[in-house]
Amino acid sequence: MTTTLFKWTSDNVKNKQILLSKLPDGKLTADCFSVREVPVEAPSEGQILIKTLLLSQDAANRAWMQGATYRGALNHGDVMASYGIGEVLESSHASWNPGDLVMADIGWQEYALVDVREATPAPEHDGPLSHGLSLLGVAGLTAYHGLINVAGIHAGETLLISAAAGSVGSIVGQIGRMKGARVIGVAGGDEKCRWVETELGFDACLNYKSSAQSLRDQLQSAAPAGVDVYFDNTGGDILQAALFSMNLRGRVACCGAVSMYDGKPKPGPFGVPGLLVTKRLKMEGFIVSDYAHLDSDARHELSLWARQGDLKIIEDILDGLDNAPAGLIGLLAGENRGKRMIRVA
Ligand SMILES: NC(=O)c1ccc[n+]([C@@H]2O[C@H](COP(=O)([O-])OP(=O)(O)OC[C@H]3O[C@@H](n4cnc5c(N)ncnc54)[C@H](OP(=O)(O)O)[C@@H]3O)[C@@H](O)[C@H]2O)c1
Repeated sequence: MTTTLFKWTSDNVKNKQILLSKLPDGKLTADCFSVREVPVEAPSEGQILIKTLLLSQDAANRAWMQGATYRGALNHGDVMASYGIGEVLESSHASWNPGDLVMADIGWQEYALVDVREATPAPEHDGPLSHGLSLLGVAGLTAYHGLINVAGIHAGETLLISAAAGSVGSIVGQIGRMKGARVIGVAGGDEKCRWVETELGFDACLNYKSSAQSLRDQLQSAAPAGVDVYFDNTGGDILQAALFSMNLRGRVACCGAVSMYDGKPKPGPFGVPGLLVTKRLKMEGFIVSDYAHLDSDARHELSLWARQGDLKIIEDILDGLDNAPAGLIGLLAGENRGKRMIRVA
């Protein structure tokens, strides 16, 4: 039976939505998106109506346009998908009340009808709401689980991280440093790399776009004794260079492959089976939700580190739903530092 607990008046309220009006052929461009306005609908049984507050921008948003991953593929005509945080306006289920803050696959729209089974409470804490997507959300949890529960890290080891200035990478390196590892990042551009060293405290950061020196040579100089753990956010050429620099029995946490998401990816890496065998490497892929049963421990520790000043939370928030397409295109081009989000309301 539908039990509407509260009647939010949706009269004359329009819902602005951004649609993926065509699938990209090559790099993502603004003309893949279009805007429409539709009436706000009341929730049916088992649904909640939420008002969008913050949307997460993730490299994976682009991968969803390539086909099914850990979620269904996006098709042209869909409201562009995105996780986010919203406020419940109207509920047809006793477990949610108006005013509750909820995390869900909201999509690029001002209001969303969400199945209650797909919604979870936004993390409770005394910081800003945005921390629910950065420190305590997908960025912090992916960094924490990937480094602590997948690869493992020990004092004195050398840790290499790609997309080091991004939302996941920036946190991985800071955790590695706290655990006593020597931390080396890889990022696009000299200026960005200096920021990773000075602002995030990495021991070194290597510019994979450098025309002066190959990444493999830079790695040889920065880690002459080799790499023990590689946290791979990119795949492609960076993974190739990392595999050559791995030490015997090194571990690789395969978190993502952003170099393959946008445009036409280059083939490779090459020679992987031989490198795995001769170096006795372990490579393990993971999805953050695999470790959901450990999220509360992870959030507890992440919050503690942030409160103690050991972990900087880097957020990159753009205002306005209309900025979502440019925000995602910019993220794929390396415009962001830390966790990019869109503040909708
Ligand atoms: N396994 C999981 O559960 C999980 C969860 C969340 C995220 N992820 C993965 O984590 C990675 C980071 O995603 P994010 O959403 O946090 O984005 P992000 O790191 O905040 O931003 C993406 C960054 O990727 C870099 N990049 C773009 N194209 C590249 C290329 N061709 N080669 C090397 N670097 C490139 C850019 O920085 P530069 O300027 O340095 O190029 C850009 O800033 C992605 O691979 C994503 O799929 C996985």
